[in-house]
Amino acid sequence: MKKHNVLIGITGGIAAYKIPNLCRLFIKNSYNVKIVMTENATNFVSTLTFEAIIRSKVYVNEFIEGSNESAIEHINLVDWADIIVIAPATANTIAKIAHGIGDNLLTSLMLVASNKTIFICPAMNTRMYLNPVTQQNIEILRKRSFFIIEPDEGELACGDVGPGRLKEVNDIFDLINKHVNALDNFKGIKFIITAGPTIEYIDPVRFISNRSSGKMGIALADYASLMGGEVLLIGHLLQSHGKLFNTIIIDKAIEMLELLKENVKKYDILIMAAAVADFKPKNVANEKIKKGEGLILELEENPDILKELSKLKNDRQVFVGFAAETSNSIENARKKLIEKNLDMIVLNNVLRQDIGFDSDYNEVTLIFKNNEILQIPKMKKSEIASIIVDKAIEIYKSKNV
Ligand code: PMT
Repeated sequence: MKKHNVLIGITGGIAAYKIPNLCRLFIKNSYNVKIVMTENATNFVSTLTFEAIIRSKVYVNEFIEGSNESAIEHINLVDWADIIVIAPATANTIAKIAHGIGDNLLTSLMLVASNKTIFICPAMNTRMYLNPVTQQNIEILRKRSFFIIEPDEGELACGDVGPGRLKEVNDIFDLINKHVNALDNFKGIKFIITAGPTIEYIDPVRFISNRSSGKMGIALADYASLMGGEVLLIGHLLQSHGKLFNTIIIDKAIEMLELLKENVKKYDILIMAAAVADFKPKNVANEKIKKGEGLILELEENPDILKELSKLKNDRQVFVGFAAETSNSIENARKKLIEKNLDMIVLNNVLRQDIGFDSDYNEVTLIFKNNEILQIPKMKKSEIASIIVDKAIEIYKSKNV
């Protein structure tokens, strides 16, 4: 088996003290490790600590006196690396990378590393993390296909409580290791995923819709692409994600249907997480409706997208739907699974405030064609997404032996 080369970049945050354990995990699992630290990082943990763990030199300064290889050091390090992990990544380093500033070895090598698989693990004070400028910088990196391993929430070293704590190093390792191992499993598999609500116009400025935020569908697209799948995300999303996957923004259910009909045959796995509006105004006014005269809206049903697509489904494809219920009605979900010719349906309760619509969390029951049922307790949508996508891949593999 190929031994992967991982280059770990450590920046100056208190969470740097957790990185020796991350290095140990990589080494224990047969990765080759090299380390680059910023000057600031060495104030938190000494280079000696890391040198003892990885048994080789730790790189800090770009121009090392007496070394004739120093000037091209950053190029050599990048060429060597299969994967680059920056942990902890401070707001400062994230900003520099986002804006192309190379003022130390680590940020300079990031200027050369545009074709590499790069994981960024932000860790910082909550207010710094939530500061729009940091969020914008993170978004810039996402759009450039960096994998962002979001920080956990909790009490931080500074006493603040909120997001900003470095993700547990075991989880960081698992995600990266899973990515490396999944590449073969996911390679060549094409996902078409829907997310968010649809909006149905009443007049040019008003519409009816629902509370879906798109978070569930985006989490699915994130994970599928993180694992190496090819992803197209379709939905009425507030911003174009364009991270590691293509996104097409639509408004109406009918537009979603047309796009899916046009494309679904080219994809292996369809996941419909979108909250498609079941009804739309029968007539759409061309001009803004004037107030004062009252308004009675006549609605008509939108087509059932999944039902329409099931007519185009072939035996090799896997279709996954969601069931938004206001009770945990397994019977209703199962009915949808059969009617829409799905391989799996994800039942979630949309009455609860702590999960479902517009929450970062969900709690779901997976129901399969063979009547098997899997209850997934409340967890982050990103974690739920990984379980759903892994199951979809399992079904896909069983259909395509
Ligand atoms: O976006 P978030 O804020 O993260 O919230 C996530 C979510 C609650 C929206 C998501 O987890 C979810 O439940 N999505 C499905 C919502 C829904 O429309 O459920 P449904 O039970 O009404 O529909 C069943 C399935 O048929 C769904 O896969 C739906 O996409 C699909 N459908 C529905 C109506 C329609 N006209 N055509 C369809 O294809």
